[in-house]
Amino acid sequence: MAEASLKQELSELDLDDEIRRLKVERNAIVLAHYYQESEIQDLADFIGDSLALAQQAKKAEADVILFAGVHFMAETAKILNPTRTVLVPDMNAGCSLADGCPVDRFRAWKARYPGAVVVSYINCTAEVKAESDYICTSSNAVKIVQAIPADRQVLFAPDKNLGRFVMKQTGRDLVLWPGTCIVHETFSERKLIALKQKHPEAKIIAHPECEEQLLEMADFIGSTLQLLNYVENDNAGAFIVATESGILHQMRKRAPQKLLIAAPPLANCACNECPFMRLNTPEKVYLALRDLTPQLVMDETLRQRALLPIERMLALS
Ligand code: 13P
Ligand code: SF4
Repeated sequence: MAEASLKQELSELDLDDEIRRLKVERNAIVLAHYYQESEIQDLADFIGDSLALAQQAKKAEADVILFAGVHFMAETAKILNPTRTVLVPDMNAGCSLADGCPVDRFRAWKARYPGAVVVSYINCTAEVKAESDYICTSSNAVKIVQAIPADRQVLFAPDKNLGRFVMKQTGRDLVLWPGTCIVHETFSERKLIALKQKHPEAKIIAHPECEEQLLEMADFIGSTLQLLNYVENDNAGAFIVATESGILHQMRKRAPQKLLIAAPPLANCACNECPFMRLNTPEKVYLALRDLTPQLVMDETLRQRALLPIERMLALS
């Protein structure tokens, strides 16, 4: 009954107007990842890839940061800017990579390689960050690994596809944690070949979380922001885009004259939409700003331990 009346109340509001009003009232900013639904991207103050969002969160001066992304991103914002109130529209917005790397198993894995340097992809929990030497994102993973002396053994977690990509780029032999992203592993190589035959002029661009065979077919591999910049600046007029389909919204805005085709998933499903990212809705953004909940809270000792490897990454970026 209460749910029905809330639904009714929300349906009567102009959510765009209400969110804009609340942003001023609360002195809040909305940070959004490119995988958010287009309506959320359009009401955000800043849209970015994981690195740009972390940098933006660190320098945010607003009292409230509403993070329209997934849990590990909001955690990173809190680690970097602890005096701000960090809101998460839906606390269940997790990530298969972070969920597949629990800290107890991570510690046991690490213990098997004493003396190794640990590089963790930002898509992990604060507890795993606290156990790592460096954090990286898809846009700087190669650079971070290259900064580690060549004679040191390197452990890389939790995305084995990004790890393999870094191995190829650096010629380093990394020990990989066996994690994957449930969205990027669903792209079908067979369907991609068929699509390329239909559009031979199109360039294939892919996120490094995609599987190795798919990355081998790509003309360009990069983070969401790097893919977006590539579409805007490259001379080609058509692109097959192998990443979460939310990015197409900004690509269409920046390059409206270009043909953009979402790479096909294996099944006939919307599997190229991240089910975690898409838990956020404009309604939940509105409610979070109105009620200042759910808020991300973090133990201060954990925060300080997790901060160090993130700061090392930012210094190298
Ligand atoms: P980037 O935006 O850093 O490329 O990350 C992609 C991603 O999967 C975020 O969860
Ligand atoms: Fe995690 Fe993949 Fe979703 Fe990104 S797209 S949040 S890596 S599950």
